[in-house]
Amino acid sequence: MYNLLKGKRGIIFGALDENSIAWKTAERVHEEGGVFVLTNAPVAMRMGTIDQLAEKTGSVVIPADATNVEDLEKLVLQAMDILGGKIDFVLHSIGMSVNVRKGNHYTDMNYDFTTKGWDVSALSFHKVLQVLYKKDAMNEWGSIVALTYMAAQRVFPNYNDMADNKAYLESIARSFGYFFGKEKKVRVNTISQSPTPTTAGQGVKGFDGFIAFSDKMSPLGNATALECADYTVAMFSDLTRKVTLQNLYNDGGFSNTGVSQEVVDAFEK
Ligand SMILES: NC(=O)c1ccc[n+]([C@@H]2O[C@H](COP(=O)([O-])OP(=O)(O)OC[C@H]3O[C@@H](n4cnc5c(N)ncnc54)[C@H](O)[C@@H]3O)[C@@H](O)[C@H]2O)c1
Repeated sequence: MYNLLKGKRGIIFGALDENSIAWKTAERVHEEGGVFVLTNAPVAMRMGTIDQLAEKTGSVVIPADATNVEDLEKLVLQAMDILGGKIDFVLHSIGMSVNVRKGNHYTDMNYDFTTKGWDVSALSFHKVLQVLYKKDAMNEWGSIVALTYMAAQRVFPNYNDMADNKAYLESIARSFGYFFGKEKKVRVNTISQSPTPTTAGQGVKGFDGFIAFSDKMSPLGNATALECADYTVAMFSDLTRKVTLQNLYNDGGFSNTGVSQEVVDAFEK
């Protein structure tokens, strides 16, 4: 380990269980010397095992619904109080589509569900950024990362309305990142991760076939949750200070591969 985050304080959203990308990130940040509070929606706390992670990493858990600005304000103030100063890094690792959960096809959406999923998966990132910005809660050269998927750029039919949510999320990172950079010297980026076997990932229809295809298409194979955590640690560290407004692919090369030999072979008669 490299002590890359020694002396840095943060907030990590979205650790549900040990498969969660946020869980692996919390473990890696802890190993690199960073301190943080963990947060998740109150309902997720009852379903998941976040307390184990808190114990392991010596962290406090603060429940907050990321769609609720009041919850976020309390979270940010409490986090600064507990950690003893302003924040250096934030991970937004939150996603949920009610249409996907209910099995509604993209061509047959329930728009109340669409709105809810958009609020949780995309607008919540704006809310997190706005609360941090208005409370002047970030230290200069701080780093904020949200997780996304390439369905924001290309069609993946089963990704449903999450594709639109991710496009919106990535746009917020650029738009808000401009002001955060100008006014506070804080960087804002999204990391576009390979398919990963987590609760959210496995909710996508046909996930097993899809993750296997993606692995065969990627010259380096799919990136794991741990590899995403490593990349996020690098983005939180002082080694990436001038990287901002970017959508960064952590996908083994999938996003720039037209076709791989394995996929061609699978179709050859
Ligand atoms: N798993 C994949 O294949 C994959 C690929 C690319 C990007 N991502 C993204 O990574 C992020 C993390 O997902 P994951 O794969 O670790 O799955 P996960 O299910 O472990 O994490 C999703 C988290 O969102 C939280 N959440 C849902 N509603 C919330 C709310 N209202 N307030 C606060 N938190 C809420 C859940 O409790 C959960 O902890 C998501 O943004 C997801 O879209 C996942």
